[in-house]
Amino acid sequence: VVRAFAPGRVNVIGEHTDYNDGLALPFAISLGVTVSAEAARGRRVEAIALDLAERDVFDAGDRSGATGWRAFVRGAVAELAASGHALGGVRLEFSGTVPRGQGVASSAALEVAVCLALLRVAGIDTYDRLALARLCSRVENSWVGVSTGLLDQLAALFCAEDRALRIDFRDLDLRQVPFALDGWALGLVPSGETRALARTGYEQRRLECRRAVELLGVQSMRDVTPDDLSRLPAPLNRRVLHVIGENERVDAAAASVSAGEPEQLAVLLNESHRSLRDLYDASTPAVESTVARLFQSGAEGARMMGGGFGGQVLALFPPGQSLPADALRVTPAAAAHLVES
Ligand code: GLA
Repeated sequence: VVRAFAPGRVNVIGEHTDYNDGLALPFAISLGVTVSAEAARGRRVEAIALDLAERDVFDAGDRSGATGWRAFVRGAVAELAASGHALGGVRLEFSGTVPRGQGVASSAALEVAVCLALLRVAGIDTYDRLALARLCSRVENSWVGVSTGLLDQLAALFCAEDRALRIDFRDLDLRQVPFALDGWALGLVPSGETRALARTGYEQRRLECRRAVELLGVQSMRDVTPDDLSRLPAPLNRRVLHVIGENERVDAAAASVSAGEPEQLAVLLNESHRSLRDLYDASTPAVESTVARLFQSGAEGARMMGGGFGGQVLALFPPGQSLPADALRVTPAAAAHLVES
């Protein structure tokens, strides 16, 4: 039996930049998904979601889709086969510690852990992690039917303990950034808002960004400068202004955390939140009241995290300040790996 673990992530800063060829600064968290796999005779794939007490059985060559968690497993098997990794029969079991559907990339953790376990059980030890991130993103886009960027998969596969990962989505340049908070703590608090609206809002923002790039006649959002903004109608000009500012904040935040200047990070988190709220129109009343409550609880910085329109708020607390009861304290943990049993 082989066992693989893949983590969820937080994104320190750099929101709605991944699908805009921009910059982001995630780190992996210690919570994630663990998959165990055992080779089985023939081509029968059996998958068991232990937390849900649910099961799926299909032929390794079956290309029909499914819904819910089954789509991830079927998609992973199909995409690995399509990329030339011959897979036979296997029995998979998985369970997770990362909250599902709460903006901490439980989906990427599942895709990545399933793929690592499948590869290992097939005796494949060398593979390209970047190609695997793209493959997992295809699972999510084509099999699960959710359009997301590459942020979550890269975070799950490339982050490192005590480091944040600076990702440049234009050329996929990845850099480990030392993460020194000097006694400050980051906590994640759910806004309590269901993500029903999130998908439509997210899709709409992606379309707006694509339209802005088309109207300006540039190859990529990274080629857009503040001078171009006057050539765009509202609200496209505000969307672009957010992305330009957010990219700058990623580099400023990377500099702050590597220099051990958390006060500066707090300022940047607040700027990012205002930009997501006022320029990207991605906030909701529940998110705003969560942010306000976190400031009352002693946070110095707080911002919505992930796709917006609900989900989680990331807050930065100074030394000695206890975190609210519903906060999950997060620190940078290791990337996806095989677990020795
Ligand atoms: C969601 C998506 C990511 C990214 C963020 C916004 O979390 O899964 O790919 O686009 O929204 O930064």
